[in-house]
Amino acid sequence: MSTPTKIILDVDTGIDDALAIGFTVRSPMCELIAVTTLAGNSSVEHTTRNTLDVLNLMGRTDIPVHRGASHPLSRTHVDAAYWHDENGLGGAKLPPSPAVIGADRGPAAIIRLAKEFPREITLVCVGPLTNLAIALNVEPTLLDLLAGLVIMGGAFFEHGNITDLAEFNIYCDPEAAAQVFATDYPMVVVGLDVTRRTILHRTSYLATQSRSGEHEPGARLALEVARALFTQKGKDEMALHDPLAIGAALDPSLLTYQEASVEVGLGEADRGQTRITGPGKIKVANGVNAEAFTQLFHERMGLDWQRGGMELALGE
Ligand code: BDR
Ligand code: CA
Repeated sequence: MSTPTKIILDVDTGIDDALAIGFTVRSPMCELIAVTTLAGNSSVEHTTRNTLDVLNLMGRTDIPVHRGASHPLSRTHVDAAYWHDENGLGGAKLPPSPAVIGADRGPAAIIRLAKEFPREITLVCVGPLTNLAIALNVEPTLLDLLAGLVIMGGAFFEHGNITDLAEFNIYCDPEAAAQVFATDYPMVVVGLDVTRRTILHRTSYLATQSRSGEHEPGARLALEVARALFTQKGKDEMALHDPLAIGAALDPSLLTYQEASVEVGLGEADRGQTRITGPGKIKVANGVNAEAFTQLFHERMGLDWQRGGMELALGE
């Protein structure tokens, strides 16, 4: 039997971050060894509290949570309350976790664990890249100590979601993203080009909600955090941005890639735009087997899967 992949998740929890945490702990081939938090979708106070509470709901208070960056490297923090609500969790109030925040800060915890388990850890960043940039400043050999790096961020082939040009995570801290992409490390980058094709539909949500009997923890979590989107705000679907990054970490063959060099817009007009500048080592996802991933996600989380509205995967 193969050994589970050791994962550190760097999150700004966040509705879809919460689902990524749930999906990770429900995946037998993942060993989530720590979660680091930062300001992004909401303040770092909220994203850290949300992370603790999500892990508690999933029955995993044993996984350490380390609070990280409270603001981007050089910009004022912009949140995503328009989608994730002020509390970052779609207004959901989960039972408060009894667990306490880990002793060392997010970037310090990433460095410590990478040294403790050299070339064993896949770091999956699904928020702004501030923690990773700080960790790289402090420990320039960090990437050599990892088994892999997966990033949810960017919009390479289609429009953004915070501006026409930019995706939220990269827009939030473009200087941090520029620093990370400048390493040309063979990281996997999962942008809106693919994450928009992996969807949780309202029909699946409602089918799960109306099912009798006790729900599994993953389904309970999804019913809580997506309630406002589907039952109050009238959304028909939500993209599984952050869970797909975990999918890529576990099974890279779910996606296709273009190997490229990447630059980030740092000006006012192009802030956070991710541009391919030529060949390089960064694996920019340009296609996804959306059906395979979405089915896997629903199964692991204990959600009903209504296939209505499924978009065709790119590159198929
Ligand atoms: C990304 O931005 C955040 O709002 C989501 O959690 C996801 O990480 C999508 O653009
Ligand atoms: Ca996120």
